[in-house]
Amino acid sequence: MTTAVHPKNYDIADIGLAERGRFRMQWAAKEMPVLDLLEDRYRRERPFEGIRMAAAMHVTSETANLMRILIAGGAEIALCASNPLSTQDDIAAALVSHYEMPVFAIKGESTTQYNQHINHVLDTEPHLTMDDGMDLVAMLHTQRNSLLDGIIGGTEETTTGVIRLRAMAAQGRLAFPVIAVNDAMTKHFFDNRYGTGQSTLDGIIRATNVLMAGKTFVVGGYGWCSKGIAMRAKGMGSHVIVTEVDPLRALEAVMDGFQVMPMAEAAKVGQIFCSATGDINVIDRRHIEDMRDGAILANSGHFDVEINLRALEDMTTKITRVRDFLDEYTLADGRRIYVAGEGRLVNLAAAEGHPSAVMDMSFANQALAAEYLLKHSEEMTGNVYDMPESLDRQIAALKLKAMGVEIDTLTEEQEAYLNEWTLGTAE
Ligand SMILES: NC(=O)c1ccc[n+]([C@@H]2O[C@H](COP(=O)([O-])OP(=O)(O)OC[C@H]3O[C@@H](n4cnc5c(N)ncnc54)[C@H](O)[C@@H]3O)[C@@H](O)[C@H]2O)c1
Repeated sequence: MTTAVHPKNYDIADIGLAERGRFRMQWAAKEMPVLDLLEDRYRRERPFEGIRMAAAMHVTSETANLMRILIAGGAEIALCASNPLSTQDDIAAALVSHYEMPVFAIKGESTTQYNQHINHVLDTEPHLTMDDGMDLVAMLHTQRNSLLDGIIGGTEETTTGVIRLRAMAAQGRLAFPVIAVNDAMTKHFFDNRYGTGQSTLDGIIRATNVLMAGKTFVVGGYGWCSKGIAMRAKGMGSHVIVTEVDPLRALEAVMDGFQVMPMAEAAKVGQIFCSATGDINVIDRRHIEDMRDGAILANSGHFDVEINLRALEDMTTKITRVRDFLDEYTLADGRRIYVAGEGRLVNLAAAEGHPSAVMDMSFANQALAAEYLLKHSEEMTGNVYDMPESLDRQIAALKLKAMGVEIDTLTEEQEAYLNEWTLGTAE
């Protein structure tokens, strides 16, 4: 196997943080038993021997544990960030120092540097891609398409990436198969809902330290992520208002006990706003115009487009950083609006991202999807594929086992009954 990139080829903030990163990685690993089970098998079977992988992921302690098991399976991986603000610099240092990984990620990097880092990762001439939001795959198809021939397939971690990939496949532009890890049930049921729910509240609290109890908290959207945010804000005593564009999800929010109204109405009464829709300008100029003095705005969707920051800047006479990850925008009329984490996903910008217990399942999906691609790529084309259901169930069973939770199995009688159509109302 040839090493396309020398291990010392990296760009991180401070290699001196490696020891701290290693401890945090080990702490996260304690809640990632499914990855440990996979690692045991990977050490024996080495399914990724000779395979180069290009990963654009949030550089967190959980991602580092995914990298650890893939390396144990023989993979050579280069890693960059999937968001300029989500890198944990100590983790980047630990991966370089203890795993000799080429890592190109610095918290707070500029957009230019972010794109350069994706390019460095692509310089390794990968066989597999692992993306979170599709920036790496987009660059591969636009600026680096000479590398496309060498690609076997890819995996995609998040809803926004899957939406972009499907749009690309529909235009016949996707050159290799990609597995939508996000759409696995063991991913979005847990990661998007419980992970985003807890870590988004954590991010808002770390950025502001405001009391959640008694606040009017407006949640943009009622998809998997927003449901988690609404549930946790309610649990902390906030009065939660949900905004939606999909009647089914709006109805679900109503039945779950939330007040539902258009953003134009919610804007007038909300004190804290957080959207997680994957959509643009969910909080727009016309909403900001009606907001109360002191309103706090945050986003937990993938890109920093959900709050119209350009319009907010336009309306602003002065911007002051009042705390780490909290900017005060003073408007011409004197009102002050606060933006957490520069409008980027607040759970990663201002906190540490999802707890490792949920990433255990998301990343087991990533590893199994990568393995699946290596075994089945010849039957696959330039399209977006679901995770095979059998793998999803396997991950759920492993997680339950690791948690010490047992469940029933169907008896033969029940199995036969559930496969029979002649048995209806008994005489
Ligand atoms: N912060 C994180 O760590 C994290 C984790 C997972 C996913 N994400 C990202 O969060 C976003 C949402 O993901 P999801 O899995 O919840 O998606 P989803 O498709 O389940 O939900 C999105 C919801 O937003 C609604 N919506 C769209 N436009 C709207 C608008 N203008 N106003 C109100 N509602 C609107 C949709 O109707 C839908 O119900 C994506 O960008 C995804 O990539 C972030």
